[in-house]
Amino acid sequence: MIDILVDAAPGGELTVRAGSNRTVYKGNWKQVGMDGYHPLFVHASVLATWEREDKSGQNLGATHKANPFGFDAISETRDFGHGHTMLDFRKHRLIHAGHYRSLLEKTPGGSDYIEALYAEHESGWADLLLAMAGDPHVGIFPNLQLINNQIRIVNPLSVDETEVQMFPVLFARASTEINALRLRQHESFYGPAGSGSTDDAEIFERVQLGLQASVDPWINISRGMNREQVEADGTVVGHITDEVPQRGQMRQWLAMMTDGGVAGVL
Ligand SMILES: [Fe+2]
Repeated sequence: MIDILVDAAPGGELTVRAGSNRTVYKGNWKQVGMDGYHPLFVHASVLATWEREDKSGQNLGATHKANPFGFDAISETRDFGHGHTMLDFRKHRLIHAGHYRSLLEKTPGGSDYIEALYAEHESGWADLLLAMAGDPHVGIFPNLQLINNQIRIVNPLSVDETEVQMFPVLFARASTEINALRLRQHESFYGPAGSGSTDDAEIFERVQLGLQASVDPWINISRGMNREQVEADGTVVGHITDEVPQRGQMRQWLAMMTDGGVAGVL
């Protein structure tokens, strides 16, 4: 899955020299990431904006195309074991790949970029690389994530305080304009004035307040247990709104706290 990012860069050459931005919030680090259920609610206003942008043809590309989070979406959640998880948008983005491709074709250096991908890779993989726009959306347990156009590090500061640091990744051999597009996409959702990270930080703090209540000590993360599937290699797969990743992450965390880090997939 990491190759979805690396191979999207011509020659596999990435640079991480665009600086970083960070969020600090009063919440536990284990809340963060790989949840495909919350966007419908926490980011409702963002999704409504994307929908309007979609209709007007103004949106920024594949990562913003259509709603990949709906109850009828074909996106999936994955638990690879050992706490490693993914929001798997591959099927969704392959359907909408044409939009990002035409956006690239209108961007200086875009046609050369597309040509380079097909010269370097077999066409089915190049199709997927273009559809995914360098965004594997994977969480490598415990605190490394590759989301959208960034490498993200989650740093626990204390039991109820977390720092999230985001490093936008650029393609060393792509045009300035393509890299500028990547940065604008990053800023629009994850930047200090972006539409998404601010929603998340607010909700993380509210969840932390809820966790301090003594009314009920349990959190229900059973959504989708009745319909998850196990593939031949042991990967657990569920619908995008299902809590497959959360169960995988918590299972691994529990194992690390109790059994020296040995957790089975199931
Ligand atoms: Fe979010």
